[in-house]
Amino acid sequence: MNIIRKRSWELPESMATPEHVFLNRRAVLAGMAGTGAILAGLGGMRPAFAEEDPSAGLYPAPRNEAFKLDREITPERLTSRYNNFYEFGSHKQIAEAAQALKIRPWEVVIDGLCDNPQTIGIDDLLKKVQLEERLYRHRCVEAWSMAVPWTGFALADLVRLAGPKAEAKYLRMETFLDPDTASGQRATWYPWPYVEGVTLAEATNELAFLVTGVYGKPLAKQYGAPLRLALPWKYGFKSIKSIVRFSFTDERPVSFWEEIQSAEYGFWANVNPEVPHPRWSQAREQFLNDGSYRPTLLFNGYGEQVADLYKGMEGERLYL
Ligand code: MTE
Repeated sequence: MNIIRKRSWELPESMATPEHVFLNRRAVLAGMAGTGAILAGLGGMRPAFAEEDPSAGLYPAPRNEAFKLDREITPERLTSRYNNFYEFGSHKQIAEAAQALKIRPWEVVIDGLCDNPQTIGIDDLLKKVQLEERLYRHRCVEAWSMAVPWTGFALADLVRLAGPKAEAKYLRMETFLDPDTASGQRATWYPWPYVEGVTLAEATNELAFLVTGVYGKPLAKQYGAPLRLALPWKYGFKSIKSIVRFSFTDERPVSFWEEIQSAEYGFWANVNPEVPHPRWSQAREQFLNDGSYRPTLLFNGYGEQVADLYKGMEGERLYL
């Protein structure tokens, strides 16, 4: 891939800047002085951009009580205005720009090492699955966190639909590519389109969730409509948005951030308080609801469900 880089590589501001400086400069979360005022400011905003969606009748879906939280849900007015979606800008206030994304028609390609390769429209895909709501923690590598009521279906259901061949070891996922719509994709130093990947064992873990809605409604565009991933035990960058392609492969995919800076962003990216990002600590996180700091939990608190996936892999960089 021919990546033109401004310097040796161009870090997005949120990741290039030491976290405390970034938070202060942006004054969005403002972990130190001024948190209250800033959160109050966010609080005054309306939930963003309700719009007619052909799938609206499917919501709200029943909540699956197996996926509960130890903390308050983060209000929609906060999560809908504090997003990472570099296709629409390398800052958090992309909600408005993301409304340019056209989410119908939306075709999803399923291909590679599987018995049932297909191209399927999002509304046909929704007819083949059972939607449910799950409350998940959401922990960004930048050390902020939220608690989000996602609606969607198990990634394992899509894997079943595809019927992976025995040689398939990984699932590679890709976001749309449309620089005319997504101004961020005109930044040629990024390796567009956004790509992520998981092992098939991770893809079929019960926690791996394909998200189509949030707060009991179809997913708003800034969250990665109409189809994004939620992997709550991993740093948020693994949860790829606005997916158009799922490919089964025997080669470990190189993800967007890994391609940009492999010393800082690896394939596994499991949450671990004891393994710092090369430029900042991961020991604690700032909860978006009130700006409070909390200790980071190993696997973001989901060790019971996922720790077994990594047994015997101690030599791997599991936590970057
Ligand atoms: N997916 C795409 N296509 N583009 C992105 O920039 N950002 C990632 C992830 N998925 C990103 C993406 C990062 S860094 C995070 S933390 C989460 O989306 C943010 O999701 P949220 O905006 O719903 O909180």
